[in-house]
Order: sequence, then C-alpha cells, then structure tokens
Amino acid sequence: MRTIHTTSEEETCEAGKIIAAELRVGDVVLIDGPLGAGKTAFVRGLAEGLGADPRNVSSPTFTILQQYRGSMPLYHADLYRLAPAEVADLGLEETGLDGILAVEWPDRWTARPTVAYLVVIDDQGGDDRRIRIRR
Ligand SMILES: Nc1ncnc2c1ncn2[C@@H]1O[C@H](COP(=O)(O)OP(=O)(O)OP(=O)(O)O)[C@@H](O)[C@H]1O
Ligand SMILES: [Mg+2]
Repeated sequence: MRTIHTTSEEETCEAGKIIAAELRVGDVVLIDGPLGAGKTAFVRGLAEGLGADPRNVSSPTFTILQQYRGSMPLYHADLYRLAPAEVADLGLEETGLDGILAVEWPDRWTARPTVAYLVVIDDQGGDDRRIRIRR
C-alpha cells in the first residue's frame, strides 16, 4: 500500500502519471472516492503517463466509456449514473484487454476483478487529498 498526499489537482494528476509508468497491458485501475475527490484528475495523469492527450479526459456527461489513444489504449469508465444491472451489460470484463481500463465508481461493477490496482482518494478538506494505492 502506498499513500500519496496531494494539495492540488495537478499533484493528483502527477500521482496518476507515476502509476501509469508501472501499468502493463490488461491492467485494471479501480478508482474510489466521493464526488469531487479527484478521480478524473487521477485518470488525466494516467492518460498523460500513457502518452495520450490529457485534455481529452473529462467527466463524461453522457459517455459512460471513453477511449484515449496513447502508447496503448486507455479506457475510462464512469459508472456513477449506472445501476449494477446496467454495468453488467457494458461488458467491462472484455474492455481494456488490449490496454488499460480505469474505472470511477467501481462499486457499481459487481463483477470487478479482484486483481487490480485499487486507488482510494479521500477528501481531507480544502484541497488536501489522501491517495492510497494498492495492487
Ligand atoms: N488535491 C486535489 N486533487 C484533485 N483535485 C482537487 C484537489 N484539490 C482540489 N481539487 C479539485 O477537486 C475537483 C476534483 O474533480 P474531479 O472531476 O477530478 O473529481 P472526481 O472524483 O472525478 O468527481 P466525480 O465523482 O464527480 O467524477 C476539481 O475541481 C479540482 O480542482
Ligand atoms: Mg470524475
């Protein structure tokens, strides 16, 4: 378990970038934390670290699953608005086999893999965030 404290959105991106350097094809990154914790900011760092354009990473309003092109494809799912039955229909199990799958609100994914990176972001007030990462 690694713990990183950040005090800005940029620092949370940087944490994602550091993790991106370790990722291998097929890895799944589950990102937990309350609304506004910085989950999308972390994914922006993953994108940057994987050589994709970080400006394309946003909280999808209508798109549940986005794909960014880098050294390998990065798939970004935001399951916030979905019920578990709807998530099951997405076929996330088959998504990201050729790259990386990053998932916000992974608790909605009942069949989420147990072998995955788990990133938990706690909002500690103001701009302070505690990011815990375990494999
Ligand atoms: N240390 C920090 N790390 C990340 N974001 C921070 C930090 N401090 C402040 N912020 C602010 O918190 C917000 C984080 O937004 P972001 O969309 O990344 O969160 P999220 O967890 O994806 O939210 P949602 O659950 O709505 O998808 C941004 O407005 C950002 O500027
Ligand atoms: Mg988000």
